[in-house]
Amino acid sequence: MFTTANSLFFSLSFISCMAMAVSIRHNSPIPPSVASLTDRFPHLVFDRTFAVLFGAKNIQRLSNGSYVNLMLDKSSGSGFKSKEMYYYGFFSAAIKLPSDYSAGVVVAFYMSNSEVYPHNHDEIDFELLGHEKRKDWALQTNVYGNGSTGTGREEKFYLWFDPTAEFHEYSVIWNQHHIVFLVDNIPVREVNHSEAMSRAYPSKPMSIYSTIWDASDWATHGGKKPVNYKFGPFVASFKDLEMAGCTWNQSKGSPLCTKSGQSGGLSIDPVEGNEFIKMSQQQQIGMQWVRSKFMFYSYCNDLKRFPVLPPECKEGKH
Ligand SMILES: *[C@@H]1O[C@H](CO)[C@@H](O)[C@H](O)[C@H]1NC(C)=O
Ligand SMILES: *[C@@H]1O[C@H](CO)[C@@H](O)[C@H](O)[C@H]1NC(C)=O
Ligand SMILES: *[C@@H]1O[C@H](CO)[C@@H](O)[C@H](O)[C@H]1NC(C)=O
Ligand SMILES: *[C@@H]1O[C@H](CO)[C@@H](O)[C@H](O)[C@H]1NC(C)=O
Repeated sequence: MFTTANSLFFSLSFISCMAMAVSIRHNSPIPPSVASLTDRFPHLVFDRTFAVLFGAKNIQRLSNGSYVNLMLDKSSGSGFKSKEMYYYGFFSAAIKLPSDYSAGVVVAFYMSNSEVYPHNHDEIDFELLGHEKRKDWALQTNVYGNGSTGTGREEKFYLWFDPTAEFHEYSVIWNQHHIVFLVDNIPVREVNHSEAMSRAYPSKPMSIYSTIWDASDWATHGGKKPVNYKFGPFVASFKDLEMAGCTWNQSKGSPLCTKSGQSGGLSIDPVEGNEFIKMSQQQQIGMQWVRSKFMFYSYCNDLKRFPVLPPECKEGKH
């Protein structure tokens, strides 16, 4: 399953060619090239690792569970949840979003433990927000730690590609050093486990979720554009699901980590591996590219909402 240095080199060149072809076709900008972390981990089969969360009749498994479609129609949305809880690791899904008019629709890929800790839960969110123009989906990221729901740490981005035309990878690194949100392996946001964040840093085991649901009241233009079911059912497709790192052993109350070891001289341990505990210069350039061109909201710039900004806003550049 794990790539050697050589095949990694070839797959990277292959991916950059693909990226170029796609961007020429859609006339979208070409992002800086970065190492492909998603290539390092096995793809999971749905039924072995996930269970239905809600809306079973609106979940479609294809190719023995290598692909999953989540649907939203008038009667229900749908969602799935990991069977295990995880305490640090690398989590990823390739997602293709509903095309056509999608205002009010939210597709989420996230981690949470709100069912276990209703009063002091942790959460790491990717939320894709629908739009009335098909290519204008927005990406919202958010982090809650230990019940910090009074402080929304949202950041929002436009995407540099049409997320309804192809699958794109949405991934999270979560370890004791930092949380990194990545899109097609390009970091879009880093949340350091710094002194300032320590009380709001997700530090308890979480499950992984994916859902599609009706968020008419807030998702698009603050709720001015509700879901229009004339354009339904809305279908979000998932594949290349990855969860690697430490599962949580409930009875022992401790993490169970699969030490992935070395491959082609590269560490592939998402919990303590060199490539996962800090960002490379290449990744920082990638993140700067995304944030300077495509980020349109950061809570750290919202003085109306936060006359006194949360303390971590002083640390990084936002
Ligand atoms: C699904 O799994 C079955 C049994 O393991 C196998 O025979 C079949 O070829 C698989 N189908 C696909 C599309 O992978
Ligand atoms: C998390 O919240 C609990 C209860 O609200 C509190 O006892 C604990 O000290 C908090 N942990 C951190 C790291 O702030
Ligand atoms: C989880 O912990 C229990 C109790 O210590 C142990 O018996 C069990 O083997 C552990 N599970 C795994 C999968 O290691
Ligand atoms: C996170 O910490 C690293 C190492 O101290 C630093 O280089 C980086 O700028 C920090 N990131 C943010 C977003 O503050």
